[in-house]
Amino acid sequence: MVKKIKRLIGMVSGCFGGFLGTDIGVDLGTCTTVISVRNKGIVLNEPSVVAVCKKTNVVLDNGQAVGMIAHEMLGKTPASISAIRPMENGVISNFQATEVMLSYFIKKAQSMTKSGLTKPRVVIAVPSGITQVERRAVIESAERAGARKVYLVDEPMAAGIGSGLPIGDPTASMIIDIGGGTTEVAIMSLSDIASCESVRVGGDSMDKAIISHIKRTYNLLVGEIRAEKVKIEIGSASPLEQELTMDVAGRDTVTGMPRKVVLTSEEIREALKEPISEILESVIRTLEKAKPELAADLIDNGIHICGGGSLLRHMDTIIENATGLKTIRVDDPMQSVAKGTGIYISNIDVWKDSMDSVDD
Ligand SMILES: Nc1ncnc2c1ncn2[C@@H]1O[C@H](COP(=O)(O)OP(=O)(O)OP(=O)(O)O)[C@@H](O)[C@H]1O
Ligand SMILES: [Mg+2]
Repeated sequence: MVKKIKRLIGMVSGCFGGFLGTDIGVDLGTCTTVISVRNKGIVLNEPSVVAVCKKTNVVLDNGQAVGMIAHEMLGKTPASISAIRPMENGVISNFQATEVMLSYFIKKAQSMTKSGLTKPRVVIAVPSGITQVERRAVIESAERAGARKVYLVDEPMAAGIGSGLPIGDPTASMIIDIGGGTTEVAIMSLSDIASCESVRVGGDSMDKAIISHIKRTYNLLVGEIRAEKVKIEIGSASPLEQELTMDVAGRDTVTGMPRKVVLTSEEIREALKEPISEILESVIRTLEKAKPELAADLIDNGIHICGGGSLLRHMDTIIENATGLKTIRVDDPMQSVAKGTGIYISNIDVWKDSMDSVDD
């Protein structure tokens, strides 16, 4: 009897959930969280950062120092506060902070769309290579953040769907999602992943490579935010038609005093060689693992790249040169996964049985 009533309540709230548009899709990224709401599209795009009090480990401002507000504090916090990223390499590294962050983002998305009457069903995209324990951690975190039911989808599938690739067709589609913490490489066909790799290399590793280059060459310490700026302003994967330069300031490792140096795009390209080759090696391995028929399809279909790292100058060229396959950067590459989760939530009642979740 109790079970029957529970099921009835579930059915009724399911109908109203859909009707009120509370279902939410989340790209829980290492650098950025992007949220789409059913029937509304992408409504939120904020850094995956929270500011915590070091002593108590509690998120500041009653759990409100999250996202954009916390990102501004990165690298500039006083000794008692630290601005942290709860996700590392695409997986949860700080459970409590992830929960607070998700709860804040879900509530914000709901208030922006005036859809906070029922607890939402949430579709979250996760890297294809994460373990069952890591999957479980994402589900529990989202449940505690206020989700009624959580479904997980593989990031490459979401990225493929969100980029408009024909992943349901009997032909191969290949997507490379170069994120902040991970690069996901996948070949998909008939709505499934045929061959994939997830490597813990991405934009963050590029920033770290820039930091160590500047330290080694100029005895200058620069922070992650500055290194990221260098990558975005003058970074490239292969030679530029017009090479670039940029001033960067940091702290001298010998004198301890602030100092500036002029960096060139050539030296930054050299510094980025290692993380970029790791990405290329993963692409080659994934192609080698694919069945011959699927590999053959890619001669016509080419490779699609997305994620923030795909915006690095000539990333497409270097992949094209390494594989011999036409490589295309998708439109809005940093929103592909979120657009995909948006498509999943629009079809949630049809697809929910094929998505990973925990039974009630
Ligand atoms: N124009 C650009 N050139 C190079 N890198 C860029 C550019 N714009 C953004 N990025 C980098 O893209 C990365 C963030 O990409 P994205 O938002 O796709 O990652 P994420 O989804 O948060 O991470 P992950 O998927 O690994 O969990 C950052 O490292 C950022 O520096
Ligand atoms: Mg991502």
